[in-house]
Amino acid sequence: MSKKTAKNFFIYGSIFFFLVLVVLTIDTMIRVPKRAPVITAEVDAGKKVWHKYDCIGCHTIMGNGSYFAPDMTNVAGRKPKDFLKKFILDPRAINPKAAMPKLGLNEKEADNLMAFLEWTSKVDTNKWPPKPVLAAARKEASTGQAIYQNQNCAACHIVGGIGGTAGPDLTRIGPKWKSEELTRYLKNPASVKTASAMPGFAHLSEQELKDLSDYLLTLQ
Ligand code: HEC
Ligand code: HEC
Repeated sequence: MSKKTAKNFFIYGSIFFFLVLVVLTIDTMIRVPKRAPVITAEVDAGKKVWHKYDCIGCHTIMGNGSYFAPDMTNVAGRKPKDFLKKFILDPRAINPKAAMPKLGLNEKEADNLMAFLEWTSKVDTNKWPPKPVLAAARKEASTGQAIYQNQNCAACHIVGGIGGTAGPDLTRIGPKWKSEELTRYLKNPASVKTASAMPGFAHLSEQELKDLSDYLLTLQ
């Protein structure tokens, strides 16, 4: 290669990659604003509540924080809003064994915080954080067990050591319940236990509810 070709190679090469960089930067600038919904006054106030009570001292959010407690980035997408609000106001009223203390938020603060958590759950984070590994363990399940997994009951319940702690451990739930009553409870918990914090699954068909309760009754 002559000296002149090498020089041209260098100059045109640099120009080419500089243009690639410019195009990619513009593309990113166009996409960024679309990745998050608008920030309302409630969302803004909710973020301040998040800092006031040092939630980040125990939880992670958007990749920041401590690993003592579950990630909050899309918690509002995973669990019903009423449930989360009740939990934030008084964790032990929902689960007597909760490790999260009652922090003393008022109603308004809890509402703002929910607005903030709903906002973070709608931000396009390229699917961060990754799904827990148990989502992959979806093999050879009975119909009822498949429903248990599809409905994400494990977000709140443990079976055989796997799952969340917001609701009671279901590993030995079988002997505690009768089939018909359990089906009714799953459809609408409040019809069996007043003020139950468990969400209802009335969107499931009667057959699905029956299969689900058959599965739970085998757990002993
Ligand atoms: C001292 C540590 C600690 C602090 C501070 C804390 N949490 Fe928690 N939080 C936990 C733990 C641990 C859990 C898991 C459930 C349990 O055992 O209590 C949890 C669970 C939750 C849940 C339920 C998650 C789920 O998937 O069911 C929500 C929502 C939540 N925390 C929100 C908050 C918010 C909002 C704040 C700040 C106002 C906060 N937490 C402050 C420790 C903490
Ligand atoms: C958002 C959290 C949450 C989800 C999701 C959830 N539960 Fe629950 N569940 C609870 C809480 C809290 C309780 C305790 C309150 C009560 O007993 O009514 C509970 C109670 C129960 C009980 C009674 C436990 C006992 O000791 O008698 C059963 C059975 C149960 N859930 C099954 C399920 C099944 C099956 C699913 C999925 C279809 C599910 N839950 C989804 C929170 C949840």
